[in-house]
Amino acid sequence: MSKLILNTFQNIKNNKIPVWFMRQAGRYLPEYKEIRNKNKNFIEFCLNINDATTVTIQPIDRFNLDAAIIFSDILLINYAAGQKVDFIEKEGPVLEEINEGKFLNTNSEEFLNKLKNVYEIIKNTKIKLKADKTLYGFAGAPWTLYVYLRNLKSPKKQLNLDHLKNDGKILDFLTHLIILHCKEQIKAGADIIQIFDSWAGLIPENEFKAICIGLNKQIKTELKKFSTSTPVIFFPKGIKSKINNFIETVKPDGISIDYETDLNNIQKRKDLVFQGGMNPDALFLEDDLMKKEAEKYLNFFDDCNYIFNLGHGISQFTKPEKVEELVKFVRSYR
Ligand code: CP3
Repeated sequence: MSKLILNTFQNIKNNKIPVWFMRQAGRYLPEYKEIRNKNKNFIEFCLNINDATTVTIQPIDRFNLDAAIIFSDILLINYAAGQKVDFIEKEGPVLEEINEGKFLNTNSEEFLNKLKNVYEIIKNTKIKLKADKTLYGFAGAPWTLYVYLRNLKSPKKQLNLDHLKNDGKILDFLTHLIILHCKEQIKAGADIIQIFDSWAGLIPENEFKAICIGLNKQIKTELKKFSTSTPVIFFPKGIKSKINNFIETVKPDGISIDYETDLNNIQKRKDLVFQGGMNPDALFLEDDLMKKEAEKYLNFFDDCNYIFNLGHGISQFTKPEKVEELVKFVRSYR
């Protein structure tokens, strides 16, 4: 049995369009909430081998999706490098200030040791997944991790860039940790790596080239050197028409597009897999309108290598029945 998603990276046209959802394991699923309630501390939950494996597989069991994404969080890198991270209900992540010297001296072995359960969860999941399912490993991009590192919380309301001028070393060190973590996930059995640059839209214009293009390209180059056969997908959210420049210069295997991306701006290419795009809010529309929205992406990318997904994570208020309906529609498209 071949993996539909890996086929798309080899330019093999599938009879069916593969589909999965960002944040597919989460609070919109009652079976997730049941296990979440037993794990009060979110970081410990991410490191609980049995429970994290179980919730990774829940959406595959329920919707027969083509991929599982390992249940974890981008902020585990900050945590493993010694930054305290808490997840507060209705508020999201709250971090403590770092000691810069200590942070930059994080020992690689200790760092990987703190994350060793993540790699066990990947091995465990791999054993349980059917052979036609693809397993995504992931990491946050340097900028996005940096935003949390200095902002200490979501930058939704305000962004603290006081230190940026002098923080080149921190960004480089984060890049190094991200590469370490991704390589270890590949070793453990991840079939694909996705890099989430969720706050790329907030990078100051004059830093875009160095930070968004430069550091993501470094990640891509290092991971390809480590494993040529493992596709690397980037999700640079909010960069608008700069997406074409990102594609041309980072040369990713895949690009995950956000819901604000204007399809008219997209330059189609044969040497690239496109993923995602649909607004997660479309799952709150009536079925007909939701399907129309999905069709817009399916039609546009029909002559491309395409993986159906959303343009950001699925909302916690989504009804599972809507997801089921959407998957049915994508499956019936070709
Ligand atoms: O199903 C999956 O996609 C796999 C697991 C996953 C989580 N976080 C679990 C999670 C993945 C891939 C992430 C990535 C992540 N984490 C990103 C990048 C993607 C994006 O959404 O832009 C970011 C920015 C984070 C940081 C983060 N983690 C935030 C801002 C929050 C709080 C927001 C929220 O939804 O509560 C989290 C917590 C988090 N990570 C939850 C889950 C399922 C919710 C925690 C809970 O159950 O209470």
